[in-house]
Amino acid sequence: MTHRKLAGRLVAATHNSGKLRELRELLAPYAIDVVSAGALGLAEPEETGETFAANATLKAIAASRASGLPALADDSGLCVEALGGAPGVYSARWAGEGKDFAAAMRRIEAELEAMGAPPPWRAYFVSALALAWPDDHVENFEGRVDGALVFPPRGERGFGYDPIFVPDGHDRSFGEMSAEEKHGLPADGSRALSHRARAFQDLARACLG
Ligand code: IMP
Repeated sequence: MTHRKLAGRLVAATHNSGKLRELRELLAPYAIDVVSAGALGLAEPEETGETFAANATLKAIAASRASGLPALADDSGLCVEALGGAPGVYSARWAGEGKDFAAAMRRIEAELEAMGAPPPWRAYFVSALALAWPDDHVENFEGRVDGALVFPPRGERGFGYDPIFVPDGHDRSFGEMSAEEKHGLPADGSRALSHRARAFQDLARACLG
């Protein structure tokens, strides 16, 4: 399959400052001029899709059409196995209008307690990346990282649900890791750690080579 190559300017189609920072970090080694959707004054489309990929695609297409530039969107979330995959595509919505992730993490803990679900509480993060061009060509990539939840939350780094997620093979939460540790991008090109970095590795191989 031939992939379309990306060059020049790119819109990071997100209004989430944590995601924007991570997308900029991941794109830093490449000669791409990244401009954010917020800086261009682009509206945030409603996430009406039922899957991460559908929401990433609709955000990337909206930003690309509105700006006339290629656009990269991430739709992502935390899926808790004992909760049937919740909050999943509703991960941002569980934090409410005030983006209160401390409350969202307490809600996960309360729902696990109410169900009497015993630890380990298995969970995974998913990141769907969509890269769209103004002619509606779209390239899609998805990454996942498995791990377990810990309560109370640990660490002040990262964003969103990072403080309650300990990836498999590690004993610290994403909230306790530096950006480099969380991305976990090995110099030899072997598998990265975070869901977003894993999806990005595939995107880079396909579209940034
Ligand atoms: P959306 O993709 O804009 O619907 O929002 C995804 C939500 O999932 C974010 O607001 C975070 O709460 C959560 N999320 C996605 N990726 C991460 C991550 O890398 N760390 C912590 N939380 C994340």
